[in-house]
Amino acid sequence: MDFSRRQFFKKTSQSAMAIPFLGTLAVDPCEAATSAEFDLSMGNPEDAVRLNFNENALGPSPLAIEGAMAGLKEGCRYALGGMLRPLIAKHHGVDADWVLMGTGSTELQRLAPISHLRDGGNVVSGFETWGGGLVVADNMGAEVKRIPLLKDNGYSFDIPAMLNAVDNDTKIFLIVTPNNPTGAAAPFEQLKAVADALPDDVLFVIDEAYADYLPDGWKTGVDLIKEGYQNVLVTRTFSKAHAMAGLRSGYGIAHPDILKEISKFGCGPASTSIVVFGAVQGALNDKEHAIKSRQHVENCRKYYEEQANSLGIKTVSGVPPFILFELGDRCAPIFNALRKRNILISQGKSWNLPNHLRISYGLTGENEIFFNALKETL
Ligand SMILES: Cc1ncc(COP(=O)(O)O)c(C=O)c1O
Repeated sequence: MDFSRRQFFKKTSQSAMAIPFLGTLAVDPCEAATSAEFDLSMGNPEDAVRLNFNENALGPSPLAIEGAMAGLKEGCRYALGGMLRPLIAKHHGVDADWVLMGTGSTELQRLAPISHLRDGGNVVSGFETWGGGLVVADNMGAEVKRIPLLKDNGYSFDIPAMLNAVDNDTKIFLIVTPNNPTGAAAPFEQLKAVADALPDDVLFVIDEAYADYLPDGWKTGVDLIKEGYQNVLVTRTFSKAHAMAGLRSGYGIAHPDILKEISKFGCGPASTSIVVFGAVQGALNDKEHAIKSRQHVENCRKYYEEQANSLGIKTVSGVPPFILFELGDRCAPIFNALRKRNILISQGKSWNLPNHLRISYGLTGENEIFFNALKETL
């Protein structure tokens, strides 16, 4: 799809004009619409290799697509997102009132500071980490104590230093596990030690966007909640292993009182679209798809490690669908050279890692294009 902005508007206005006729011709608009008529490129060139946003290029499960299409045809109806809660609750073995649906897990991450820093207070988190909610805390004027990760321990969170930073004003303690962009995953004993050490009035937020990539049997924050810890908020998403980033669905699991506070400010009853409502049901019914995603990521990780090794590039990675390449001051020139070839990756400086580039794994062919281009730019 390669047409200018002007062509885009022309084409969409033509299709809008065509809709009444579609009705009389009894053509189903869902069937009639082809991607050629709509610009979904997000401003990227047609041949762009998009390895920059930790998206899952495998695409959603066929069942999720079927669910989304069913929802689309009911697009005149509001979806009551709360009705998905029993399904999510069953999936995790918790009660339905311990689940809150959000427009992506980012919504919950952003609401946590809004609800919990209303009367002031600070946040303790890591330095080299994804901070969707931390930005909100910053914007609220709250102090955010960003503790450097442990470089010599796979860039994991420095839990003793973070706990040391907790004071009487601390209201939120946030970790991301597995972490973006370093991939480090916190062992359950560590999560438990934090939950035990934190005062009752500190909300322990655990961002588990990449938890579906953890090995079977790995215990997470959800297990912490099931063990009875009441000051824990875990956020999960359909964006990653379920490959539904553009559909925007995530959720929080926590004690109902915490969810009640958070939902005063967002995650409203109609904040889930009916398309997503259908897609989530399909995704939850297709256990194989998330397993397939995990397998693909494992294969990609092996391939990227081998290739990087052969090029003498040091890497940092874990189970999530991305890897860091340590390239020092070659980061910016390589990033720019790849961008000129329409190969999109991310600069580690976004997460305070200026000597690294982050590459999200793509499809096999995309990964090969990336390495062929990288070899030529090195
Ligand atoms: C750690 C982490 N949490 C949350 C998100 C956003 O997730 P969602 O699409 O559910 O808002 C991302 C996106 O990359 C992420 O890396």
